[in-house]
This record gives sequence, structure tokens and C-alpha cells, in this order.
Amino acid sequence: MALPGCDRRRVSGCDMGHGTMMGGEAWPASFVSNGERIYFTGTSNSGNGITSSGGGMHQRMMGGGCASCHGADRRGGRLMPQFWKKAPPLTREALIDAHEEGGGHDDHGSYNPDTLKRAVFEGIDPSGASLDELMPRWSMSDSDWQDLLEYLRI
Ligand code: HEC
Repeated sequence: MALPGCDRRRVSGCDMGHGTMMGGEAWPASFVSNGERIYFTGTSNSGNGITSSGGGMHQRMMGGGCASCHGADRRGGRLMPQFWKKAPPLTREALIDAHEEGGGHDDHGSYNPDTLKRAVFEGIDPSGASLDELMPRWSMSDSDWQDLLEYLRI
């Protein structure tokens, strides 16, 4: 069902009802890469299935990709209906640069491609600790993961 003000020709994610729920954040008019598409919609150009488990009420209400929790600008976001819980930023700076020595973020080391994959697929951070179950555990093909990884690293 299309939402009011949601032009389905421009934003495929609108079909899933994100448009007005994103707090007015701008979504790209079209996706420049498969990785970006996966980040926003949780679907792939390849047509291969992408599935997730967990994610709590927010994921059940919103569905979609990473953007519904981590934000269109990857700076993190509040979760529905538990607005007091926040998904962390997924910018390159937050995942990699801020963790480098002197970056001031010392709860765990910086991510590399292997630990990032483990976090997304298994919900385990670089220190070996489990992420909250509000972070869904994802499953996708290897080539889709490579595309998403590339998107997260820029
Ligand atoms: C339903 C909301 C939700 C969705 C959708 C979601 N996440 Fe998360 N994510 C979270 C929350 C909440 C955390 C924080 C968990 C914690 O602190 O234990 C998190 C944490 C993470 C982390 C760890 C960040 C850090 O600083 O250690 C990564 C990496 C991550 N998410 C990637 C993704 C990717 C990639 C996607 C899409 C494929 C995605 N997430 C989709 C809610 C979500």
C-alpha cells in the first residue's frame, strides 16, 4: 500500500511504508548501488532473498533494511516503539575511524570486513560480546554481503 506523498516510481522502499515513518529523512531518489539498495530496503538487485531474525517490535512494525533503524544518513536512530533505545551510527567514521587509536571509542576495537560480517550475521561485536537482540541477525548471499560491505565502508 502506498503512503500519501510517497511516489512509488522514485523510491522503492516506499512500497513498504517507510516514507512517512522515517522522521522526514531524505531517501535517495534511486539507488546507485546494490549495497545502497540493501541498506535501505533489505532487498537485492539479484533477487536473492535477504532474511533477518530478531530486531524486536521495531523490525516487525517496519521491516525493510538497515536504514529503518540506523537512519538514512547512517547516523543511528531511535527504535519504535521503544524510543529510548537507539541504533548506533554505521558511518565509516563510527565503525572504523573512531575506533582507531586515539579515536576515543574504546568499548571494542574497530571493525574489519570479517568482524563486520560477524556482527551483521551473528550479532557478535569485535570483542566477542553479543549485540542486543534489537539488532537483527541477517542472512544474505555472499555477493550481496560484499555489495553491502562496500557501501558501509565509504
Ligand atoms: C530493528 C532495528 C535494526 C535494524 C533493522 C538493523 N539494526 Fe543494526 N543494530 C541495531 C541495534 C539496536 C544495535 C545496537 C546493539 C547493541 O548495542 O547491542 C545495532 C548494532 C549494529 C552494529 C554494531 C555497531 C557497533 O557500533 O558495534 C552493526 C555493524 C549493525 N548494527 C549493522 C546493521 C546492518 C548492516 C543492518 C542491515 C543489514 C542493520 N544493522 C539493521 C538495530 C538494527
